[in-house]
Amino acid sequence: MSSAELSVFIRAVGVRTPERKLTNAELSKMVDTSDEWIQTRSGIRERRIAGPGENPSDLGAHAAAQALERAGLTPADVDLLIVATMTPDVPFPSTACLLQAKLGLRRDIPCFDVSAACSGFVYALQVARDMMRSGAYRRALVVGAEKLSSVVDWSDRTTCVLFGDGAGAAVLETTAERGVGLLGNLLGADGNNAELLHCAAGGSAAPATADSLREGRHYLRMNGKEVFRHAVRVMAESCERVLAQCGVTSAEVAWFIPHQANIRILEAVASQLNVGMERFPSNLSRYGNTSAASIPLALEEAWKDGKIKHGDLILIVAFGAGLTWGATLLRWHEPSR
Ligand code: COA
Repeated sequence: MSSAELSVFIRAVGVRTPERKLTNAELSKMVDTSDEWIQTRSGIRERRIAGPGENPSDLGAHAAAQALERAGLTPADVDLLIVATMTPDVPFPSTACLLQAKLGLRRDIPCFDVSAACSGFVYALQVARDMMRSGAYRRALVVGAEKLSSVVDWSDRTTCVLFGDGAGAAVLETTAERGVGLLGNLLGADGNNAELLHCAAGGSAAPATADSLREGRHYLRMNGKEVFRHAVRVMAESCERVLAQCGVTSAEVAWFIPHQANIRILEAVASQLNVGMERFPSNLSRYGNTSAASIPLALEEAWKDGKIKHGDLILIVAFGAGLTWGATLLRWHEPSR
């Protein structure tokens, strides 16, 4: 069989979230906001905040270890590692290399980060799939790991209520079986709208200085209204395009796993697709927006809750800073079934 015929499927998922919960009530003591405002506008009740020693590489390593254990595999079985993050532990080396060392992965494998903000996990999945279909890599770890609490301005009520920390991981594997695993995909970006959601300083164009710190330019800034508008349009369109590409209708999709940004965004996307919210599992209320970690966190939860069954069609869709977006249709595959 030629390697071009290989399918790539998610064999197992794992997660790690920090213990520390930050509730809306606590936030309302920090900025001028209320539990009622946050819940009504975003659907979020609390989020997790990472402490010392809980960097993206740590959270990601724990999530990856759980996914490997559930797959019955060891670190030595991993042929490729991709980490999606917009909050790397350090500017360099990559969070993937730090995670590789923490997990004890082999040294003869590629380890790298993907930077696509909240779309990072979808981007990384598709990069991994395309590398694996060549037959060069049998098993990959794809990890979304974030510590957004480190880039949030805790005095800015328009953003600080929305974000949280966490990590999720997927073990990908190739199989000769057709029509299973990652079926169709789409990625897109629009750098002309980069400033809608960005961090102005801290990179090489504007290294951190005493002035940039004083002015808070190393923090995440967002035009919430515009981001909301783009997110709904692009996520709904991406779903429709991937479904059309695969010749599948939304009625055939068992579960939609969208990036967990805001419950009102999810409701608007579901409504545009004419799909009930019962097929849009959400954990936003407990984790907020965890960027690249949000899809694997939601996917793992739906799997652990017993919702996802062998053979189910699942559509994951994301949107984020860049702007970036992506969608992947997959057929859930449990080889032992
Ligand atoms: N608590 C109380 N009031 C707040 C607030 C908060 N945390 N944040 C903003 N407000 C105020 C605003 O200052 C504004 O006051 P004004 O009318 O006196 O000017 C009012 O609430 C309404 O603000 P607005 O921005 O119109 O609210 P909104 O309905 O657009 O909701 C967001 C704001 C941020 C929740 C919403 O725009 C959003 O979710 N956008 C997308 C964000 C996102 O998902 N980003 C990540 C994408 S990956």
